[in-house]
Amino acid sequence: MLDEMVEKKKASGSQKICHRLALVIVFHLLVLLLLDDVTCQLAWSPIQVDSESTVDLWTRKSVGCACSYKDSSNSGSEHEHDHVKHDNASLQHNGHHKHHLNCACCVKGGCQCGEHTPNRCTQCGLENHCLNMCNVTLDSKILQGSSGQTFGQIRSPILQGPALCYYVLRPAPGQRVELQVYRLIQVGKFDGKKCEGGYLRFGGLDEKDDFNNAELCGVNERYSPPAVLFSDDGITTLLFRITEKTIRSQFLAYFSFTSLSNPIVGFHPKGGQKVTSTDCDWSYNDYSCRTPSSCVIASPGFPGIYGKNKICRYHITTSSVHTKVKITFNSLLLPQEHCSTHYIAIYEGLTPGTERLATICGQEKKEELIFSGPNLLLEFNAGYQVPPFDYNGFSATLTFIEGITTTLTPPTMSFDIEPIHPHEPPNDLATPPPKFTPCDQVISEQYGGRSGHFDSRTRSYANSCRLIFKGKANEVVHISLFNYRLKSPSCRSVIEIIDPNTRKKTVLKLCSPVTRKARNEMGSFIPPQTFISTGNQMIIVLRRAGPPHDTNDIEFVDGAFLFHNEEQSGTLQPYSLCDMHHYGLSSPESGSVEGPGTEHLFWNIEGSLNCSHYFIPAANQSVTVTIDMLDRLGTDNDCETVCGDGGCQCLTGLNSIENIDHLMMMTEDNQPINCLCGNFRPEWLPVSLRSWSPIKLVYSIARYSWNTKGFTYQASYNFITDGMCGARTFTIHSGELHSRNFSQAFSLNSFFHQQCLWILDSNTERSLMIEVISNQSRSCTAWNISLHEYTPIEDEKMHAGMLIHQFCPRDKHKQFTLPWNLKTIVIKIQAMTRQAPLYTVRWKSQIVRQKIQSLTPAPNVISNHGSTIFPLSSSCHYSLMGILILSSILLSIS
Ligand SMILES: *[C@@H]1O[C@H](CO)[C@@H](O)[C@H](O)[C@H]1NC(C)=O
Ligand SMILES: *[C@@H]1O[C@H](CO)[C@@H](O)[C@H](O)[C@H]1NC(C)=O
Ligand SMILES: *[C@@H]1O[C@H](CO)[C@@H](O)[C@H](O)[C@H]1NC(C)=O
Ligand SMILES: *[C@@H]1O[C@H](CO)[C@@H](O)[C@H](O)[C@H]1NC(C)=O
Ligand SMILES: *[C@@H]1O[C@H](CO)[C@@H](O)[C@H](O)[C@H]1NC(C)=O
Ligand SMILES: *[C@@H]1O[C@H](CO)[C@@H](O)[C@H](O)[C@H]1NC(C)=O
Repeated sequence: MLDEMVEKKKASGSQKICHRLALVIVFHLLVLLLLDDVTCQLAWSPIQVDSESTVDLWTRKSVGCACSYKDSSNSGSEHEHDHVKHDNASLQHNGHHKHHLNCACCVKGGCQCGEHTPNRCTQCGLENHCLNMCNVTLDSKILQGSSGQTFGQIRSPILQGPALCYYVLRPAPGQRVELQVYRLIQVGKFDGKKCEGGYLRFGGLDEKDDFNNAELCGVNERYSPPAVLFSDDGITTLLFRITEKTIRSQFLAYFSFTSLSNPIVGFHPKGGQKVTSTDCDWSYNDYSCRTPSSCVIASPGFPGIYGKNKICRYHITTSSVHTKVKITFNSLLLPQEHCSTHYIAIYEGLTPGTERLATICGQEKKEELIFSGPNLLLEFNAGYQVPPFDYNGFSATLTFIEGITTTLTPPTMSFDIEPIHPHEPPNDLATPPPKFTPCDQVISEQYGGRSGHFDSRTRSYANSCRLIFKGKANEVVHISLFNYRLKSPSCRSVIEIIDPNTRKKTVLKLCSPVTRKARNEMGSFIPPQTFISTGNQMIIVLRRAGPPHDTNDIEFVDGAFLFHNEEQSGTLQPYSLCDMHHYGLSSPESGSVEGPGTEHLFWNIEGSLNCSHYFIPAANQSVTVTIDMLDRLGTDNDCETVCGDGGCQCLTGLNSIENIDHLMMMTEDNQPINCLCGNFRPEWLPVSLRSWSPIKLVYSIARYSWNTKGFTYQASYNFITDGMCGARTFTIHSGELHSRNFSQAFSLNSFFHQQCLWILDSNTERSLMIEVISNQSRSCTAWNISLHEYTPIEDEKMHAGMLIHQFCPRDKHKQFTLPWNLKTIVIKIQAMTRQAPLYTVRWKSQIVRQKIQSLTPAPNVISNHGSTIFPLSSSCHYSLMGILILSSILLSIS
């Protein structure tokens, strides 16, 4: 059937994407097909040898030319006859040709097939495949050399299935492989999801089921316009496979090695970077897309049809707060009825888990979409391929709009701060105060909010520019620099950060030429550069050598600021973005804290984010921290919160806790006490902890970004001076320690955390007897009291040395007698439980007047009184024998 096919094309060499040539295709009976603008998104290389009528692509006439092979008279007449009877529609046959002119006439680039097919021409270089074009390599350079053309026709032989033919298409550098499929006969069929019984696969010899390049099939398909496919992967294979029994399977296609510089057909994504180790992901950022139309994205293989079951992600990032992203669709062609599987989704953020801003499908082109940064994800989703195999996806131009607006009004507000002279000592009266320039700006909570962005480019130009951040009393200024550029040579321009409250004043000095970009070349944010003032003022001074030549060249600095009230929100830790300390002695007695991440300082934070509040009670204090509100936590199914008597725990599956958003209370040595994650339900709130030792409340977001932010929470704290705990030293010889009876907390998840140390010290030799009593029947892990040797270490919390004895609540009543040579011992209570521990500890010393040198060191020596006053309890590990012997020794000596 294909053999009978005659094609005639009229094409203008430079076809415009939306002003389509009229393509005339003749199938057996002349069918005239005029394409209109509906399918104008499709673009392919016009393949056409000659505008005159031809028998096929390479044969102008079946006869009339001298045979290129040695004349063997009329051997070809049968073929000629056979052929001509089908060709009458397009050939004028005059019959006056001479005998030796009975071979085909070829167009330029065509060569006669030879003796066995004298009435046909083929592309020069492919003469051997005239009759059986199967298992062929089509090499761009070789074909160019022999035929002068880098395109041609693939006409498969008529095969009886099962059968297989491959075609290796080898492009030259700078070329992509293009395939235009016009005709399929008995090449499998489409079962609604995939091809069955046979297929034409483009882009790899892959015969696996997860093959996700383009695949075509059909019982009897004519494609006009053709199904167009492109491959940019170098050598590409076209696989024609029939897996079922067929009588005559065949296809017809044109191939072309298309130059990438062809602006329409040779489409190639522009301005972005392919994300390595992905199939089709790209990343784009604002500074590689400066010039108009420099960044273009498109579905894989565009303007050809895209493969099946593909997800391609286009990450779009900006490095300035003012930059917006404009997406202009140039072309969009997705199957209308398959919006659930073939669509483009745009997300705010870099992952599909973030908020979806737009969904596009079908052919409904939204001309322009504008989004703000810093992160945007455009995701192209392709399901299984849908006939008529002409859906070629999309192409869009990315434009980054710099939205800086210059404030031209000079700042007129009063300026009641001390003049700052970066290079002069502050009390040098000889220097006149600097003049206020139109670029100067006072930023205070009143004018800029508690948190915001600054950019020197928003100010009128002046060589000197001061951004004066002025907080209220008790506030410090927290500054983060995002981008800056100083281009003048040899330090003629500078950026200085001045902290007027310090002696040295200059916190940072940057000398030109110097540049900082918020993002690196890969489009990731670089670590933030932050500064915290000591007082309530901070000044950024930008001094420039002279005005810029053009506005794109301006020397500038931008970033974010935050006024931080240390009294209310804790002491910000230097070099950290969000770690605060709350000291029981200096902070307010009570207050509240909340989840970070919404302040502008977080704009350039990406990836894991940890923010902690560290509550440090004074010696006689405890602190209660209560989590009152928790929102948007439960997206991680990988983590389960389980609360028991010992607190709440995060149980993770295969994932480690660092990869899961969570809120954790920790001891000062980073031991988890309470952890909330994943499925935690707001009904279980409040979760509170009363602690007699410092605790940290750590907020962790595994993948933070400005667009997505993290969950939110609110917690309150309360420092209570109760004198219950803290390292206290008793030198009195006998005494008593009591637990306090706390009113039982109302909520279910309220816990007590104690780590108290008491030191019993004596300057004389004594034997110490300690009695511990509790009425609570609790497990030892809930709380316990232990006796330790004293270790003289600087850090008083570490004084507890080697363990001597341990008391568990279920012991109810226990008496310990300690060796008389221990002058100092440590009593430690540890608790982590819902119910406050209840206990009484009594101690009593027996002064020993005489000591026995010969027995030192003697770990288990007890006084003669010990055995009588305190009955031996099971946990006293002294052997009765030992005690009797020792007692007798002691008795005999005294
Ligand atoms: C083409 O090559 C393949 C593999 O080498 C072979 O299985 C197949 O039969 C060949 N096709 C024809 C028509 O010769
Ligand atoms: C954040 O805190 C977790 C503990 O909650 C810790 O494992 C992790 O290393 C911290 N990450 C960073 C970047 O500090
Ligand atoms: C702690 O409280 C006790 C008694 O309540 C008092 O004797 C001691 O001086 C206090 N210590 C501190 C450091 O305030
Ligand atoms: C503790 O106080 C509660 C009331 O606040 C009381 O019911 C309970 O008996 C007390 N327990 C002890 C051991 O004093
Ligand atoms: C003592 O109590 C603490 C706090 O509840 C617990 O972590 C520790 O395991 C307990 N010690 C023993 C020996 O049970
Ligand atoms: C234990 O309970 C008894 C009576 O039930 C009471 O007299 C005693 O004070 C309690 N002891 C403690 C340490 O709570």
